Amino acid sequence: MDPLEILSVSSVVAPFAKTGGLADVCNALPAGLVRHGERARAVMPFYGRVRKEVRAKPVPGLQSLRFEMGGKDYGASVHRTTLPGSKTEVLLVDVPGLFDGDAIYDGDRDALRFLAFSRAVIALMQWEGRAPDILHCHDWHTALLPLFLKKAYDWDRLFAQTKTVLTIHNLGYQGVVPASHIGALGLEPIRSALHQDELAQGRFSCLLHGILYADVLTTVSKTYAREIRTPEHGMGLDRVLEARKDSLFGIVNGIDDRIWNPRTDTAIAATYDAEDRSGKVRCKKDLAKHFGLELGPTTPLFGIVSRLTPQKGFELLPDVLPVFLQREDMALVVLGSGDERHERYFAWLEDAFRGRVGFHRGYDDALAHRIEAGADAFLMPSRYEPCGLNQLYSLAYGTIPIVRRTGGLADTVVDWDPETGAGNGFVFDDFTSAALQQAIRRCLDAWKFDKGWARLQENAMAVDFSWDKQILEYVTLYERLARRSSV
Ligand code: ADP
Ligand code: GLC
Repeated sequence: MDPLEILSVSSVVAPFAKTGGLADVCNALPAGLVRHGERARAVMPFYGRVRKEVRAKPVPGLQSLRFEMGGKDYGASVHRTTLPGSKTEVLLVDVPGLFDGDAIYDGDRDALRFLAFSRAVIALMQWEGRAPDILHCHDWHTALLPLFLKKAYDWDRLFAQTKTVLTIHNLGYQGVVPASHIGALGLEPIRSALHQDELAQGRFSCLLHGILYADVLTTVSKTYAREIRTPEHGMGLDRVLEARKDSLFGIVNGIDDRIWNPRTDTAIAATYDAEDRSGKVRCKKDLAKHFGLELGPTTPLFGIVSRLTPQKGFELLPDVLPVFLQREDMALVVLGSGDERHERYFAWLEDAFRGRVGFHRGYDDALAHRIEAGADAFLMPSRYEPCGLNQLYSLAYGTIPIVRRTGGLADTVVDWDPETGAGNGFVFDDFTSAALQQAIRRCLDAWKFDKGWARLQENAMAVDFSWDKQILEYVTLYERLARRSSV
């Protein structure tokens, strides 16, 4: 069969711009598709900070794109680079005045910025005279492309065969603006195609319109695909998602094992594998030293690497951690930034338990690798979690995840059963401090039983969530969508 042509459009692509897992997926997916033999490219905005750091070449013929939005003329230009260590092409789109600064996200200006970016992507395809078989959009920032192709550019035969996929990485971010903004966003000419009830309530949601108009919807785990059709997790969109359930698929994310692999990781103190885990002991010592921790020979070290947002469930910690830290021989390292109250809490915890708790406020990719390798267990008590990548990285590094049974965490971590020796982590159900407390208790019990812990690590490291495996599910979906008229 001929290769499929796929254009993956997103606000971020790692390593050029990243705030969380979306960027990792928007790197790994096109790269994996190219390895599979498809013609896949990624496209993202050319942020000021990326311009400073990335060597990219202007694409001839795409330096003076023009488009109109809300009665205003915009210009755009396109540069080209490749993903590090891969032939996969990344197109970097600049719209002067909108992406000049270093910020990836910029609050109230974002709807205008990402809608202009989306328009520029359409102009780019038109000027190249090249439309993909699959236009794959990610999250609210690019969710209006299906609507544009169907209602604003339906006159252009170039897009007649193009099918659209929207992946929902996180329903918590919907790109909602006051309805009064739709003029400036260039949506007035297609007003009749917009969700009228919503407009009547004075709102316009980018993600909602993506859900309504994309040919196919995916999300990043099977459990989250079910959860978002319920009022509890649907964040106001459950009914529309339920109505589209036949076109909604859950595909669990993978791990890029060229980047997250304890055998080859260059950021960690010593490499290791499932057969010989002695390198992990050196990684733990290195991590403890970095944070100035004083660990005994059998002190278990817990790790956290995360955006510190309400999604991640850290509000459960204050009732649990100080008590454990007072009574048990255990230590904790935390890397993250976000909500001030969480930042303040971890700073307090570090202060209250000097030498046993370390907190690095900020974003640090190399340190994230060192924590995954050096910690014994990894805490992810998420309130909700569409997929989660850190628990996958933890499994690969033999770092035992403690997670709440939600979304992708439920699909990837199997609760430890000391009787049978099955399981690769600790899973709790209720979003309560008591349930988390019990999971940590069970983890500490397993830690004290040497053989059990070794088995847990072996089970964890044997799990295969490599992208090359997960990519096949996307290819099957694309094939069905592109080669047939419906899925
Ligand atoms: P989310 O996308 O919701 O933030 P994921 O678990 O899918 O959660 O992905 C998080 C990604 O972001 C991982 O690659 C993780 O290592 C990275 N990350 C999160 N916070 C930080 C941080 N403070 N420093 C470095 N990397 C971080
Ligand atoms: C989102 C989700 C996270 C997921 C990531 C990549 O940021 O919060 O669970 O792993 O996207 O799909």
